[in-house]
Amino acid sequence: MTNNKDETIAAAIAVLRQNDRGHYTVPTHGLYPFQWNWDSCLSALGQSHYDEDRAWTEIETLFEHQWEDGMVPHIVFHEPDDGYFPGPDVWQTHRPVPTSGITQPAVAGFAIRRLYDRSPDKSKIATRATTLLSKVNRWHEWFYRCRDPKETGLVAIIHPWEAGRDNSVDWDVAFEEVPTEGVMPFTRRDTTHANPEHRPTQAQYERYIWLIQHFRNLGWDNTQLHDASPFQIVDPGFNGILLRSCSDIADLAAELGEQSISKSSAAIVEKGLDAMESLWSDEFNQYLCMDRRRSELIQSPSIAGLLAIFAYIRQDRGKCIAARISDLGTRATYLVPSHDPAAPEFDGSRYWRGPVWLIVNYMIADGLQRIKEHTTADAIVRSSLELIAHNGLAEYYDPHTGAGCGGAQFTWTAAMVLEFLQMQTPKTE
Ligand code: DGY
Repeated sequence: MTNNKDETIAAAIAVLRQNDRGHYTVPTHGLYPFQWNWDSCLSALGQSHYDEDRAWTEIETLFEHQWEDGMVPHIVFHEPDDGYFPGPDVWQTHRPVPTSGITQPAVAGFAIRRLYDRSPDKSKIATRATTLLSKVNRWHEWFYRCRDPKETGLVAIIHPWEAGRDNSVDWDVAFEEVPTEGVMPFTRRDTTHANPEHRPTQAQYERYIWLIQHFRNLGWDNTQLHDASPFQIVDPGFNGILLRSCSDIADLAAELGEQSISKSSAAIVEKGLDAMESLWSDEFNQYLCMDRRRSELIQSPSIAGLLAIFAYIRQDRGKCIAARISDLGTRATYLVPSHDPAAPEFDGSRYWRGPVWLIVNYMIADGLQRIKEHTTADAIVRSSLELIAHNGLAEYYDPHTGAGCGGAQFTWTAAMVLEFLQMQTPKTE
């Protein structure tokens, strides 16, 4: 692409506009032709740099499709498009506008707080913010009711797509428990849009689909799905994002005079941050995922355990994570690889088994800045900007070569570029 700041901004905005469908944005043309939950919330941050109203609309549209029980689905199928699998005919959630039946990382609370903070005229958007605040709060309540039935303070994902990290090494062992007998015959569409070498394997897809069929047979009843799932993982990154959003809506609610939301969200955060300690590993110097069915920490050094820094975790844990990222930097040209390059399962171009993702970089850098780990945060911002300057606005990047992988002209990558340019620490002469 280019190193010129104005040209970079123009290119990023062009991609955001190109993928804008009026009231929602698709992650990229072809590969992902609908509205994705966390893509939208993070993309709204990018939109806010040139059109604040459009940014609020992005998140409002998503929340128009919130389920009655409070869940916010991971995909909203606004318009038919058979270039994607699995479509609404597979999910069969029977919503007025079809949606998937699982959720995604709860980044909306963080996003609305950031949009609100950045708004030049808060009185103009107070009503929109208050309406969204209560919807986000209902979603958070849903998480702790339906995905933490034993009230541990940490929620579980029941499908890898919920974490967004579809084919992480973290799931390899737990995924063995997911059967493949009875999986419907299907044709993947993702591999017609992106290099199959960059995507999850067929064996993984069979298990993704098995889980969907299983939940569908249970009528998408969220009072049953958690316990009925053979896959229950407590992911520190996923919980970190949720806890950060709870902290953010606690503050926003206080500012908007919604004291009850503020108090209940603060209580969730206190309990959740204590519970996060059960995921810490001194051996790996980071948090790890836990297989809830086996009650075992998963010995897999993935980015999930670093992303936890997005929540207001203990300062000493944050310092260890900063050290861990510097250490990863000795084994990768670009930060932050989604899996440790030293691990045998690392694969630099296969989705979440090694590549760098700018949205994760953004959340980690934000957490590092909070605890004043500026050197590491700056290194991440620099890596991210170099990646896009040399390799365009790709979905993700090989941490060794910097090559762009997966989809191209990617919305949230464009949004993150606008954010990173703002985060850059000004150089002192
Ligand atoms: C996909 O289809 O690749 C998605 O990650 C599911 O959300």
